[in-house]
Amino acid sequence: MAEGGMSLPVIRQFGETTRRDSWWLQPVVVFLGFSAFIVYATWAAFQAKYYTYGPYLSPFYSPELFGPSEHSWFGPQPSWWPGWLPFSPAFFILWAPGGFRFTCYYYRGAYYKAFWADPPACAVGEPRKSYWGERGFPLVFQNVHRFFLYVALLFLVLLAHDVYKALWFKDEATGVVSFGVGVGTLVLAVNVVLLSGYAMGCHSLRHLVGGGLDQLAGRPARRRAYDCVSCLNRGHMLWAWCSLLGVAFSDLYVRLCAMGVWSDWRII
Ligand code: FES
Repeated sequence: MAEGGMSLPVIRQFGETTRRDSWWLQPVVVFLGFSAFIVYATWAAFQAKYYTYGPYLSPFYSPELFGPSEHSWFGPQPSWWPGWLPFSPAFFILWAPGGFRFTCYYYRGAYYKAFWADPPACAVGEPRKSYWGERGFPLVFQNVHRFFLYVALLFLVLLAHDVYKALWFKDEATGVVSFGVGVGTLVLAVNVVLLSGYAMGCHSLRHLVGGGLDQLAGRPARRRAYDCVSCLNRGHMLWAWCSLLGVAFSDLYVRLCAMGVWSDWRII
């Protein structure tokens, strides 16, 4: 029998590769993009002010379960909150969108490469010789993603309701509330569209609506839902980045309006 030409896997040193393209560019961009977002989001969450302007509520603080603004569901800072701990309404809710993104299948692939170099890129040597995988502690917890999805879908409803509330402006002098559309209304609306495009293309949702079935034939509603989610899923990376920028810009817009740096322009 003729000998095959199969060769054994090549063990490379960290960063060693035969690739000639700019393989390092994507992980560097991901590292800088994620780092900038994490720094900004953490800073914004600790501010605990300038997160509302008129009917607008920053998505970093929505829903405001406890807090001083008129958007608060259960009133101001609760009495049981430890005095030594800084208080921010964002602390009650940011775990949900943060956990959803942290466990996202796309983001996992991106930050494993960018932050852990595991590996830095395809066919590039990594700093460790063993394969960690996601079946052992602590990465096995990434499997909670489907549960974060359920919470994220609820958040979409709440953020859509914030857009509705952003259509009603109160005249501070007379107290009369009237319908209107400001640039801030559009910013919050675009944010919900981007977040919906991201969440509705989730791999776990794709499995939920049809991927778990052996066959979709004879199930037109499931077929249509599966096709819709698959369509969004094909651009999941783009939705992930656009929605990340959208949610950060929405907070920035509300913040700068509340600080008096920007003026909100009323279109209607
Ligand atoms: S896989 Fe990315 S949001 Fe679920």
